[in-house]
Amino acid sequence: MKALNTNFRKSKLLLKRAKSIIPSAAQTYSKSYKYFCEGAAPAFLDYGKGGHVWDVDGNEYIDFVCALGPVTVGYNDERVNKAIISELRKGLSFTLPTELEIKLAEKLIQINPCAEMVKFVKNGSDATSAAVRLARAYTNRELVACCGYHGFQDWYIGSTENNFGVPQAVQKLTKTFHYNDIKSLKKIFENNKNKIAAIILEPCQNNGPENNFLENVKEITHKNGAVLIFDEVISGFRLALGGAQEYYKVTPDLASLGKGMGNGASISAIVGRREIMKLIDKGTFISTTFGGETSALVAALATIKILEKKSSFKHIWKLGNKWKKEIQKLIDNKNLNNVVEVVGLAPHCGVVFKDKRNLSKLDLFSVYQQTLIERGILSIGINNFCLSHTQKDVNTFIKAADLALEKVKEAIKANSVKGILKGGKFRPVFRR
Ligand SMILES: Cc1ncc(COP(=O)(O)O)c(C=O)c1O
Repeated sequence: MKALNTNFRKSKLLLKRAKSIIPSAAQTYSKSYKYFCEGAAPAFLDYGKGGHVWDVDGNEYIDFVCALGPVTVGYNDERVNKAIISELRKGLSFTLPTELEIKLAEKLIQINPCAEMVKFVKNGSDATSAAVRLARAYTNRELVACCGYHGFQDWYIGSTENNFGVPQAVQKLTKTFHYNDIKSLKKIFENNKNKIAAIILEPCQNNGPENNFLENVKEITHKNGAVLIFDEVISGFRLALGGAQEYYKVTPDLASLGKGMGNGASISAIVGRREIMKLIDKGTFISTTFGGETSALVAALATIKILEKKSSFKHIWKLGNKWKKEIQKLIDNKNLNNVVEVVGLAPHCGVVFKDKRNLSKLDLFSVYQQTLIERGILSIGINNFCLSHTQKDVNTFIKAADLALEKVKEAIKANSVKGILKGGKFRPVFRR
């Protein structure tokens, strides 16, 4: 890889243009300049190949964000491209459905334990919101309890600190419980007898379920007559082909799939029990013009065909486990265990910083990220590994992380990031 051109001239010019006309200068908060040390990081990318991407100034990076999860095979994969191009030649959207919808639905039913019927939408927020609506229709109840991030729609975002614009009446309908804390869920049921329509959760958070958490969630949910929804927008196609429900052998009533399904194509789905899914035919309105858009469907079919190979998930897990082991060694050797922690399962794992002396976790993460970028690594803390990443890519990351953690140590010693942090600080939207 060439030495990084750190003036980011073109990125800065584009950012200036974007800031005045595009809120956050990106379509997803987590892709905005606020998530990548502004001024000392690229703000715009040009293209990708495999596990690598190139920014608009011609700098190459090994990308461990993978577009926030969708890229499971690798950027710009020839096999997926070929499938898309052949559909492109026939047309993208039609007046009637195409056979591709049936083929992909059959495939999802084959790989997802809970799937008896399937409906396609376009992004994760569509898929979680549709599942919640189905649960409300099925139970004839209004309250929902959630655990995780579930997208930008009112029913969920109203329960967060970013709830401006969501009516109070809607905010009150969503309760939140804590991962691996079954008592927090029990309390919700106790306080809202016969009122909870759905329990929706990201089934794998942090280091995964403890003490049969998922089994217990399922039991309590069903005992109270509610619908269990797994939000598998991240865990689907990443932990295993059939997501967390396959990996942990706990089958929900409904699941929302998205991100990793189409190697970057815009596609998501609600899958689940026939009895509930059938309500879409009976007045539970879930319908979108682009649900059957062919390039996304065929991209998903091509992606799943690649991920289905036995070696695929083995590779992803192997890389992630190597990364975890090596990073932990660095943390131990540098005596940084009270500052930074390795979290997550191998395919979706990373580091989480803690406040230290005058420095916030965001200060420390910014130093870490900036140093990685200088070494040609893109990361927002939690990494995604894809099929195209290699052992060499992981080794390059480890070497860069060695230096990055050294810089973190330097900042802690100085009790300041002055002179160390060259760009803006990492500023996530969710601060709690
Ligand atoms: C677990 C989970 N659910 C839902 C969503 C929303 O997906 P989208 O951004 O595609 O609407 C996300 C997005 O990050 C997610 O991580």
